[in-house]
Amino acid sequence: MSYQDQPIGVFDSGVGGLTVLKALMQHLPNESFIYLGDTARLPYGTKSADTIRRYTLQTAQLLVKRGIKMLVIACNTASSVALESLQEALPEIPVIGVIKPGAAAAIAATKSGNIAVIATEGTVRNGAYERAIRELHSSVVINSKGCQLLVALAEEGWHDGEIVEAVVARYLQPLLHNTPNFKPDCLVLGCTHFPVLSTAIQKIAGPNITLVDSANTTALAVAELLQKQQLSRQSDLPRSCQFLATDAPERFARIATQFLGYTLSENEIGLVDL
Ligand code: DGL
Repeated sequence: MSYQDQPIGVFDSGVGGLTVLKALMQHLPNESFIYLGDTARLPYGTKSADTIRRYTLQTAQLLVKRGIKMLVIACNTASSVALESLQEALPEIPVIGVIKPGAAAAIAATKSGNIAVIATEGTVRNGAYERAIRELHSSVVINSKGCQLLVALAEEGWHDGEIVEAVVARYLQPLLHNTPNFKPDCLVLGCTHFPVLSTAIQKIAGPNITLVDSANTTALAVAELLQKQQLSRQSDLPRSCQFLATDAPERFARIATQFLGYTLSENEIGLVDL
């Protein structure tokens, strides 16, 4: 197999990164993918930066051994904490995170220059979205909130309804509606799990707030990189998409279906040990 025909590695702490994989598959119909969800160690969002860096390096090394031509860190927490260290550790392949593409989507969406961000505790603590957004536009006002419980709801398959809306409201009310001098018109879903909750989030946020996530802008950034570095797949054979998890393939398959929009069966998920 030529180097260009090798798959793109996509990594997340669990199934949330499948929202990014879905966008990648749509934007890059000729590319093959290997997706790895570190389901044994999810969530990353509550762990220390050192632990997230260590876990992320281990998963990336496994994908490199499987012969990927580039890596997408489809996890906001890992991107915010471990992108630079991973780029240093793996100089042989391009590594892209989801924070910068998410920041670009936020800047494109806001008119008022007031941007709200929801993410995991780890991403918020690290301040990566604030830095990435301010790099693009220094005068915007940004407020962020950790919404860790939304990860559990998304993993549980509870995507809408009364309980989900109550939890979303508890997080969003103080952020969007009760922060003095802050009138956001854009809410960044800074966690790969949150897009599946977007109906409930939009209902609570109200119609004047645009929801933004990094899936599409990440896919566009990957497409641009492949073209620039002449890494696009050349083969005429159908592309492949392989799924790996570090635990519970049955659960992965069940939940993945809701994130991907098509059915995966347990025997399509390879179990791997890091
Ligand atoms: N995938 C993580 C993210 O996008 C959320 C899940 C976790 O906490 O590991 O931040």
